[in-house]
Amino acid sequence: MQNKDLLSLKDLSSETIDYLVKLASRIKHGKFLYKDLLEGKSLGLLFSKHSTRTRLSFEAGINQLGGNVIYLDAQNLQLSRGETVEDTARVLSRYLDGLVIRTYEQSMVERFAENSDIPIINGLTDDYHPCQVLSDLFTIFEIGLLNKDLKFTYIGDSNNVSNSLLIGFSKLGVDITLGCPEKYSPAEWILDIFKRQAKKTGAKFNVLNDPIKAVKDADIIYTDVWISMGDTNSEEKISKLREFQVNKKLLTYASDNVKVMHCLPAHREQEITSEVMDGKHSIVWQQAENRLHAQKALLVYLYSR
Ligand code: CP
Ligand code: NVA
Repeated sequence: MQNKDLLSLKDLSSETIDYLVKLASRIKHGKFLYKDLLEGKSLGLLFSKHSTRTRLSFEAGINQLGGNVIYLDAQNLQLSRGETVEDTARVLSRYLDGLVIRTYEQSMVERFAENSDIPIINGLTDDYHPCQVLSDLFTIFEIGLLNKDLKFTYIGDSNNVSNSLLIGFSKLGVDITLGCPEKYSPAEWILDIFKRQAKKTGAKFNVLNDPIKAVKDADIIYTDVWISMGDTNSEEKISKLREFQVNKKLLTYASDNVKVMHCLPAHREQEITSEVMDGKHSIVWQQAENRLHAQKALLVYLYSR
């Protein structure tokens, strides 16, 4: 049965991920596909954290599919004065046809989903960033590397993006290496989710606390900020992560044709140098563009039933 929501990539089967990746490609190359899909529909974007890509790609995508967007700053809703999530969800679902939420706790998007009959889409929580990773899988497919021989390394802080990458790769049966300081390695709960999925697909993960070993022969190196939204900026964390910076020297240990990905926004000269981000191995702008196409594919999937 198809889920009405996208709260994490756990909600999507491997077949659906594969379908969405290919649909995103068709949409990218035939810009006006599905242009009336959301005609007469209003989708809300309820954001409690900053956003450039997620907000704008959803806004543009919903418009291109004929829908109407209502941006809701969480600070201005009665929710921020104590109205419950459950009551807010019940009311919003009577006005809207869908809601993209960016917030802190994963339980918040789950409570919205339980108390409304409209699709709820996770636009990033502290635990997950499923729309980002769906789009990233499309980018990896587009560059011809989404297959079981891929050597993929995520390097840096374990966070919402690496958690969603773990789920995505476990679903597709593709191995993933994570290079992180021991203290900032993936939590047991997300590795348990990976292991459960991997029983069906055979995917393996490898957590290495040595950045050079982690990127050895990698086809793709992916990184993200060291201090995510909502994290406290700590000198101790930054100093532990410093040797995990994606820089020209680190790339010499990877495959000659390695591609570098970053979900953005980047903290230039911290987790990645400008030299790498603006250099020939970087595919970050293609990656950012693909958010639009992948988001449209997700909307087509959720609304064409
Ligand atoms: N990658 C991403 O989600 O970017 P924004 O925070 O700008 O939405
Ligand atoms: N891990 C980052 C991703 C931003 C898109 C954060 O949560 O801030």
